Amino acid sequence: SAPDSTSNTLLSSCLLSKGIKNFSYQSNSPSSPFNKQLTFSIQNLRYSLPSTPKPAIIIFPLSKYQLQQAILCLRQRSLTIRVRSGGHSYEGLSYTTSYRTPFGLIDLSNLNLVQVDPTSATAWFESGATLGEIYYNVAAKSNGTLGFTAGSCATVGSGGHISGGGFGLLSRKYGLAADNILDVIFIDPNGRILNRSMMDEDVFWALRGGGGGSWGVVYAWKLQLVPVPNRVTWFTISHSGPIKLLANLVHKWQFVAPNLPKEFYLSTDISGSEDGNGSVSFTGLYLGSKWSAFSILTDRYPELMISESNLEEMSWIDSVVQAAGLNSVSDLRNRSTNSKNFFKAKSDYVQTPISKEGLIGAMKILAKEPSAYIICDPYGGAMARIGSKDLPFPHRAGNLFSIQYLIDWTKAEEGMADRYIAWLRDFYAYMGSFVSNNPRAAYVNYLDLDLGTNNWTTSTSSTVDDAKHARLWGDAYFLWNYDRLVRAKTKIDPENVFNNEQSIPPLPE
Ligand code: FDA
Repeated sequence: SAPDSTSNTLLSSCLLSKGIKNFSYQSNSPSSPFNKQLTFSIQNLRYSLPSTPKPAIIIFPLSKYQLQQAILCLRQRSLTIRVRSGGHSYEGLSYTTSYRTPFGLIDLSNLNLVQVDPTSATAWFESGATLGEIYYNVAAKSNGTLGFTAGSCATVGSGGHISGGGFGLLSRKYGLAADNILDVIFIDPNGRILNRSMMDEDVFWALRGGGGGSWGVVYAWKLQLVPVPNRVTWFTISHSGPIKLLANLVHKWQFVAPNLPKEFYLSTDISGSEDGNGSVSFTGLYLGSKWSAFSILTDRYPELMISESNLEEMSWIDSVVQAAGLNSVSDLRNRSTNSKNFFKAKSDYVQTPISKEGLIGAMKILAKEPSAYIICDPYGGAMARIGSKDLPFPHRAGNLFSIQYLIDWTKAEEGMADRYIAWLRDFYAYMGSFVSNNPRAAYVNYLDLDLGTNNWTTSTSSTVDDAKHARLWGDAYFLWNYDRLVRAKTKIDPENVFNNEQSIPPLPE
């Protein structure tokens, strides 16, 4: 609900007195600037429906100072704060809330400056920059010699992505995006602007993987860039047919992909096809020549039946364009290339290869639901070398791959939403015996509110029981790192100003 007009007037005068003019108040008219400003960055259309609670105000700060002042003005008016970078939260946590408390949305999309220093192989960028904007600038300003490790979708925002880790095609070689963060400019709940040297060590640790929306607002990140070769090898290959044959192929993948040289990324997507068969597609990136990629694959994975014509050498930035499903390098800078739909996702980690029977069972279930698919991302390499307590992201050595379960649908199928979501939950239940357990782990960037939610009545109060309850998802996302996150939260935001359905609760004084 929107605050009354007197509070709007007070909020406006607070913002205007700080020189902030880019804001609009809630409006029900679909053609209002408010509606456009809200929806342009909603990635999961499930949270664009009229029933989704809307912010009382959207503010677009144009500078670090305006960001700081926007936080303070919202606090002064006792509005809950939501912060949005790329709007790709799977559960819409950057722009809505189920608490029905009035809230203000700070959208960072105008804070997207990227500064690359090729000499020191580092970059500073504002946290409203998308991954595509960063990829574009890093490649352009280093003449194609440098890259960085992060996710494949170009429109994902660096604010939320790095806050939760950030896995991508270079992660087996260089780790997560968060593993490569050197420094940060951060605004705490009281508006203090802090860099790494000014903040508690636990807080700097928490910001790099402890999940967005819990701590305050990251204004900018400093990133270690990584060398990329002149030419890389890119390929995709699909096989479809009887499930038993495909299950053999996927079974072998589990032994191959996590153990390939760390220069290799080979993921697999599995879906059903309407004729009751299955379809398995592989995406590969190799940081080296086509010949070398070909010889490694034919040696270790002849079942893939790759031929030289499947492999294509290209610049690293062109492989980024391919992985993002775009047409050209300039598309990387376009914030609205990604097609949008309604979706629900869940995630798992696999530590022991799944049996052939298990895979056949999974693929038979998938064959019945053409709207669903799973994505398996290989770990190993640097992902296993980096310690599981170095950052909040704990899924390191011992994990063969992650699974992401997805089901999506269009507006025309809106009436089927509950059935689709129930289907995904059933499939996830089937997979339970093949994946990590005690706790069953999940990736915080694939946010899943099914794991549990904070049920604060006033979200700023938090009790010892809240911190215990939050283990439901805290343990799944962070395992043994959860307690340190609670300590970090208690230090930086004891009043729980930055909270959401799955944020880390502080301990009471
Ligand atoms: P959004 O703006 O929705 O923010 C997400 C959360 O972070 C919210 O809680 C928000 O408040 C908070 N937040 C945002 N900016 C902040 C800031 N500056 N300071 C503090 N908190 C902030 N992941 C992955 O690891 N690898 C991948 O390849 C992909 N690919 C992918 C594709 C698509 C199509 C989607 C929808 C998602 C992914 N993801 C992914 C998951 C993605 O990493 C995850 O959804 C991120 O949280 C999205 O970050 P955004 O800034 O876009 O989201």
